[in-house]
Amino acid sequence: MGIKYYESERAFKLDTPQSTYMIGIVDEEDFIGHIYYGKRIEDYHLSYLLRTNEGPYVPSKNNRDRGSFLDCFPMEYSTHGIGDFRESCLSVKTSKGHSACSLAYVDHTIYKGKKTLEGLPATFGKDNECTTLELICRDKLLQLEVVLSYTVFENLDVITRSTKITNKHTENITLTKALSVCLDMDNKDFELLTLHGSWARERHMQRRRVGYGKQGTSSIRGESSHQDHPFMALLTADATEDRGEVYGFHFVYSGNFMAQVECNQFDTVRAVMGIEPTDFSWQLEEQASFTTPEVVMVYSAEGLGKMSRTLHDLYRNHLIRGIYKDKKRPILINNWEATYFDFDTDKLLAIAREASALGIEMLVMDDGWFGTRSSDNCALGDWQVNEEKIKGGLKYLVDEVNKLGMAFGIWFEPEMISPDSDLYRVHPDWAIAVPNREGTLCRNQYVLDLSRKEVRDYVYECLRKVLSSANITYVKWDMNRPLTNIGSYYLEANQQGELYHRYVLGVYELQQRLIDEFPELLLENCSGGGARFDPGMLYYSPQIWCSDDTDAIERLKIQEGTALIYPLSAIGAHVSDCPNHTVGRTTPFETRGYVALLGTFGYELDVTRIPEEDRAMIPQQVAMYHKYNDLVRQGDYYRIASYSQNHMYDCWSVVSKDKKEVLVTFVQVMARPNYRSRRIYLKGLDTKAFYRIEGSEEVYAGDALMYGGLNIQSIFGDFKGQLIHLIAE
Ligand code: DGJ
Repeated sequence: MGIKYYESERAFKLDTPQSTYMIGIVDEEDFIGHIYYGKRIEDYHLSYLLRTNEGPYVPSKNNRDRGSFLDCFPMEYSTHGIGDFRESCLSVKTSKGHSACSLAYVDHTIYKGKKTLEGLPATFGKDNECTTLELICRDKLLQLEVVLSYTVFENLDVITRSTKITNKHTENITLTKALSVCLDMDNKDFELLTLHGSWARERHMQRRRVGYGKQGTSSIRGESSHQDHPFMALLTADATEDRGEVYGFHFVYSGNFMAQVECNQFDTVRAVMGIEPTDFSWQLEEQASFTTPEVVMVYSAEGLGKMSRTLHDLYRNHLIRGIYKDKKRPILINNWEATYFDFDTDKLLAIAREASALGIEMLVMDDGWFGTRSSDNCALGDWQVNEEKIKGGLKYLVDEVNKLGMAFGIWFEPEMISPDSDLYRVHPDWAIAVPNREGTLCRNQYVLDLSRKEVRDYVYECLRKVLSSANITYVKWDMNRPLTNIGSYYLEANQQGELYHRYVLGVYELQQRLIDEFPELLLENCSGGGARFDPGMLYYSPQIWCSDDTDAIERLKIQEGTALIYPLSAIGAHVSDCPNHTVGRTTPFETRGYVALLGTFGYELDVTRIPEEDRAMIPQQVAMYHKYNDLVRQGDYYRIASYSQNHMYDCWSVVSKDKKEVLVTFVQVMARPNYRSRRIYLKGLDTKAFYRIEGSEEVYAGDALMYGGLNIQSIFGDFKGQLIHLIAE
C-alpha cells in the first residue's frame, strides 16, 4: 500500500488495497503523463501504456508533430492553449492578455499523512492511515508553480486530489480556469452515471453511454444544487450494483462545479472535475496561491455497491467531524410541516409536551421566530427574537422545553437578506447585486455578500448572540435560493470573477467559526431541502436535510440516490403527516417510519393533531430507532432492489461490520394481485454463518440467503413496508 517512486521507470505508483494509480515523467521536457488507474497491479513496469514508442512520438524525437503529441498524450493535469484540444484544467490571463500555459515536472515529495486545505473542507487521515504525494510542476515562462497532491488511503480504495497554484513571477497573473482533477484513460465502453433532479426530487440517478464529444453535469447556481450534483461515475457497460468496474469522482465543494467526460478522436476518455469556469477568475499577486477544492476518487471492481460502501466509510471516518461523528443523534421533532409560520410559545410547548411523553428527544423551532417574519416575504437578516410569538422570550421557551427532558434546536438562514428587513434598509449594498440592474428575487430574498468580512461578522454575531442566550444544542442552517446577479459592491472590477468562490469560502469560514465556538452543537445543513447536500457541507455538519419531500415513496428514490454516495448517518429524514404536503399521498405511518430509519430519523408533524393510531405508534418507532441506529449508522449498506428501476418494490439492507447482524428493509410500493412471495437475495453475509430471523423460528444459512434468497410474503395493500432483523447464531 502507499506511494512509491521508481527512479528507473520515472514513475509513481499509488496503491490502495485493490487499486493502482500510476503517473510517469516523460521525455527531456518532463511531461507528466497518466499511465494507469484501475484494478491493483503488483508490477510497476507499466510505462509502455503511455504509447511513447509509437507515433506521433515525444517532441525530442519528433518536434515537427509536437501538436499531435500534445493532443493525444494522457495528461496528468491538462493545460490550455498549447495544442491539447481536449478539456483543460488550467487556463490563465497574463498581464499581456495571453492564456496559454504548459507544465513540466520539477520535483516531488512523499510523506505520511495528509495536510489540510486552508479554508476548504477536505478529507483527513492520520500518518498511519494515508500517504501523500506532492508533484511539483512549473510553467517556466509564466513562473507559475503547480503542486498536484494525491493522498492514498491505507484501507480504502480512495485517492484524493487537489492542486495548489502559486505565482512565482513578479507580475500578477489571473487564473481563468483551475480545475481539480484530470484523468485520461482508454475507453472501456464507459457509461456515465450522474445525479439530477429538482426541488423535492433531488439526486435521481441517470445513466447514459459515453459517446464522442463532451458530456457531464455542472452547476452555476452558486450552490451544488437540487438540479445537478458534484458527482459522476464512469462505469464499464456491464457494471451493476455488484459487478463491473466503477470509477467514482466526488467534489468536496459546495458551489459552482463542472464534472465532465469526453471521448475523443482516439477513443480515449478524459474526465475532469473542478470549479465551473463560467464567471470564475482569480487574481494571483506575486507569491500568492490558489488551492482548488478536493476531489475524491474511488475505484471499485465490484460494482456500484462497493463504491457506495467505500464512500460511506471514507466520509464517516475521514470527513465528518465533531462530537456527533460516531454518535447517535437525538430524535427531533421539527415544527415546519406542523405549523409553518403559524406558531407561538404555547403551540410549541404543546407539541413538546406531547412529543416528550412519546419519547422524542428534541424540539426544533423552524423558520418564523425572528423579526417580523410571519411569511417567507420578509425579515431575513433581522435575527432578533419576535417576543410577540415567542412570548416570555427564547430562554423561557428553551428552559420549558428542557424541563420536559428535551433538547432545543433552532433554524437560521444566515446567508440571506430580505428586501423588507431592517438590515436591508440600513445596508442595501450588503446584498449580492449588479449596481443599477434590478435584482432577481427568489422567495422574495437576496443573498448576502459573504465575501465581505463585515457581513460575515454581522451574521456570525447574530448567530452567536442567539445561541448564547439559551441552552440551544442544534442549529438547522438553511439556504433557500441560488446566486444570481453576480456582483459585489466591495470587490474591485478585476475581482468580480472571484465572488462565487469567495462566497463559498465565506460560508465555510462562518460554519467553522460556529463549530469552533460551539463544539457541542449539532449542526444540520439544509438548502431548500437538499440543494447543498455535498461533501463540502458534510465537513461542517454531520447530517444534511435531504429533501423537502417527506413522502415515504418519493423518498425511496431520493434516498437511494443520496445513499449511493453518502452514509445513512448523514441523511436527514423525518416522518411527516399525511396526506403528504408535497404530493398529497397517504402512506402507512409504519412505512414512513421504516423509510426515515434509513437516515437520521425524526418527526415533522403536529403531534397534538395526528390520528390517535399514528401517535400510538411513535413510542414503538422511537424504540425501533434506538434498537437499530447503531447498526444503521455504522454498518455496510447494500442495495437489494431499486424501486426507481423496477417500479414495484424497494429493498436495502445494512450489515454490521462483523456480519453478525443484518437489518433488511422491504417496501412493497405497489401491491400485485395473484402473486407469490417475492424472492430477494441478501448480500454481504457471512456465508458460513446461520442467521435467525428475529421473532420467528426460521434459521437459514448465510450462503442460502445470499444465493438461494429469502421469500418475502406479499402484503395486502400499497406502500406497505417491513423490517427483517437477522442475527447470526
Ligand atoms: C426550506 C427547508 O428545507 C424547510 O425544511 C424549512 O426549513 C423551510 N425552508 C423554512 O423556510
